Amino acid sequence: MNKDFCWWKHGVIYHVYPQSFYDTNDDGIGDLQGIIQKLDYLANLGVDALWLSPIYPSPLVDAGYDITDYKNINSIYGDMNDFMQLLKAAHKKGIRIIMDLVLNHTSDQHPWFKESRSSIDNPKRDWYIWQAPKNKKAPNNWRTNFGKKAWQYDAATGEYYYHSFFYEQPDLNWRNPEVKEAMFEIAEFWLKLGIDGFRLDVINLLYKDKKLRDNSISNLFSNKKKVFNRNRGSVYKVLREFRVLLDKYADKVSVGEIYAVPPGDTKLASSFLGSGNDMLHLAFDFSLIFTRWKATFYYKTIRRIYSKMPKEGWPCFFLSNHDVGRSTKRFGLTFFKYQKAKLHALLLLTLKGTPFIYYGDEIGMENASITKDQIRDLYGKLFYPLFKGRDGFRTPMQWNSNTNAGFSNAKLWLPVHPNYYSINVEAATNNENSVYSVYKQLLQLRKTHKALQSGNIKFLHEGKNNVLAYQRFLPSEKLLIFLNFSFLQKQLSINTEGLEQIFSTHPQFNSIAGGKIVLKPYQGVVFAESLIVRPHT
Ligand code: NOJ
Repeated sequence: MNKDFCWWKHGVIYHVYPQSFYDTNDDGIGDLQGIIQKLDYLANLGVDALWLSPIYPSPLVDAGYDITDYKNINSIYGDMNDFMQLLKAAHKKGIRIIMDLVLNHTSDQHPWFKESRSSIDNPKRDWYIWQAPKNKKAPNNWRTNFGKKAWQYDAATGEYYYHSFFYEQPDLNWRNPEVKEAMFEIAEFWLKLGIDGFRLDVINLLYKDKKLRDNSISNLFSNKKKVFNRNRGSVYKVLREFRVLLDKYADKVSVGEIYAVPPGDTKLASSFLGSGNDMLHLAFDFSLIFTRWKATFYYKTIRRIYSKMPKEGWPCFFLSNHDVGRSTKRFGLTFFKYQKAKLHALLLLTLKGTPFIYYGDEIGMENASITKDQIRDLYGKLFYPLFKGRDGFRTPMQWNSNTNAGFSNAKLWLPVHPNYYSINVEAATNNENSVYSVYKQLLQLRKTHKALQSGNIKFLHEGKNNVLAYQRFLPSEKLLIFLNFSFLQKQLSINTEGLEQIFSTHPQFNSIAGGKIVLKPYQGVVFAESLIVRPHT
């Protein structure tokens, strides 16, 4: 392999939600064998790596982000043999595997926590954050990320423990060196098995204020800044150490989820990249997700992301995930939603930065509406009807138009979106005008045009006329990308000499006309610019 190729910078990462990918053992839940069976599909799409949401043993109070055994596989997905089979088969096809690692908290059913809560002087007591009541109340005013009180009183020992999420997910005490040691050992366990990296869950939450000071505002549903229960200096220190550990193995990646309140704090997200070489490799910044559909707004968000990057840092982008929903929902009720999905794909796959694709986005899957009795996400159960939870964007992958969208033969853990009759992989792969076809072509284009992988980026303007325009370039190659965010046709006066249209979301349409560039509503185009080679004198 070309030694300049850095897979986690230049490749495309596909986020698999294992419960909903493909069921092979007829229990209505996806499994590892299901992912193995669909590797051909993924290889054919052209992705370079899979990020698997957690597959460890878990009571699934928070869909597996509540782990009881970090060195094993949840039996609903298979076992260690299945995992090794998946790893091997994926590697054989050139697809890497990224595990989701939850370092901030465990399940309350984890043996560590069971021990910890058993008595005040148990050796594992200090592995979690325990506090005696203060004036017969919780030690401070911290709230969970789901809006509830974050301290749970445990009658057995008369103290409170802290949990950033559900009370079934007690936070670990990272100020105890044994915790770090245990977690690093777990990371090494997976690295030695040959996995390719980690997605680090809510990584900025690891350390809390030593003095447990009150947050200034911490109301139910408040979106005000939370200061003392996250982003402590020690997180940076531990990420440096984690990087040293990863760097002992070749070619590994860490991508950290930065859980900012309010969401989308670009400066905060990039701060966890350190110099770009000494902390996280990549950090999820949620600001693009919260950007309104308008070229000028996208321009501002993307520029800000680039401007906050450390010199050696590398950005990454995503449009959807299992917490924030599918990007199609942000297009509103529009006749043009698939056009917009294609335009979005073009943006994701041509920006400078590693693209993450959420399973199903490549066929234009949408958020489903889930009835009260179908809710699986505890978040939805607790806050219904104000918030119906995250199930609507975790529904089974739509493979074909057969029963259950071809995902399973059994009663499903979550219903499929009713649009699976028309929106499914089989239909999409047979239709050259589908959203899928755009994803696939762009993944190909990235492989043949290195400027899209590693080239620099330069914006042509600030999104004027509701068109986003930028260049991706290397010394050997220059590409021009135009994205029309508007429902109106646009005409751009640009020197079209030497431009060759190499991709369009509207392939039947030649965008170069009469020395101008013409863009249909929501059209995106990529041009290659011929480089004038000056003879040596
Ligand atoms: C972030 C995960 O993405 C989300 O699904 C989970 O609920 C929380 N972390 C808690 O682990």
